[in-house]
Amino acid sequence: MRQLLPDPREDLSDDDLLAAYAHGEGRLRVNFVSSADGAVTLEEKSAGLSGPADKRVFGLLRDLADVVLVAAGTVRGEGYGYPEFGPRRRERRRRLGLAELPTFAIVSRSLELDLSSSLFIDAPVRTVVLSTGGVEPGAELGSAADVLAVPDLAAGIGALRGRGLTRILCEGGPSLFAALVADGLVDELALTVSPLLAGPGPGRIVAGSPHPAAHLDLRHVLEEDGNLFLRYAVRG
Ligand SMILES: NC(=O)c1ccc[n+]([C@@H]2O[C@H](COP(=O)([O-])OP(=O)(O)OC[C@H]3O[C@@H](n4cnc5c(N)ncnc54)[C@H](OP(=O)(O)O)[C@@H]3O)[C@@H](O)[C@H]2O)c1
Repeated sequence: MRQLLPDPREDLSDDDLLAAYAHGEGRLRVNFVSSADGAVTLEEKSAGLSGPADKRVFGLLRDLADVVLVAAGTVRGEGYGYPEFGPRRRERRRRLGLAELPTFAIVSRSLELDLSSSLFIDAPVRTVVLSTGGVEPGAELGSAADVLAVPDLAAGIGALRGRGLTRILCEGGPSLFAALVADGLVDELALTVSPLLAGPGPGRIVAGSPHPAAHLDLRHVLEEDGNLFLRYAVRG
């Protein structure tokens, strides 16, 4: 991995990347991978857009976060589970002043979640569900996760912060990202542009209702194997 901007640098180590993506307290970062023609999926999943370099950044961004925030659609579509955090990653997180393991937080209106997922069964950290639809959680979900009834996303983000989960990494999906932008809740975007034309059909990294344009300031550009890693701050 090399840095193209702001200063050219070669062979970025994991520590270099952790510094390049330093995650400030109280900040909400969104991470996506997209094809060069703007697709958010290939054959309905993000995996086909990703590669070793993107997976490396994806993992390091998790290592920098108190909480991984993800929409129920992505949890269902991508088959989310609680990932493996080996001793090296746990040690890295301790060194960065974080808990050994991140919390996962799922945003849902319907509360239709697969309770056989490792996010619920034997999760090493209890998963949080931000419930915005006023649906009463079933007993099984209620015992498998902390279900927080919140009126809207802002209150949900506030509830995470209230639990000390202030470095928030949102992994999408597109509907949640657009809603967070519409509510002015996003501080930055980490975007991988994959050197691939997916063709017509797939959606973009945003979906749902239109929102006013949000302007971005480019913080860095990294490159590996033709993949571009763009870090943007949301202006204002
Ligand atoms: N390329 C990438 O980096 C990337 C990243 C993430 C996802 N994806 C792809 O995106 C696709 C999923 O897209 P999607 O359209 O289903 O979008 P999504 O944002 O992942 O999920 C939509 C669902 O999440 C919940 N949700 C989203 N916004 C909400 C809000 N403001 N309040 C309450 N609940 C909210 C709702 O769940 P309920 O239905 O439970 O109410 C909603 O139906 C998958 O195919 C995945 O592969 C790609």
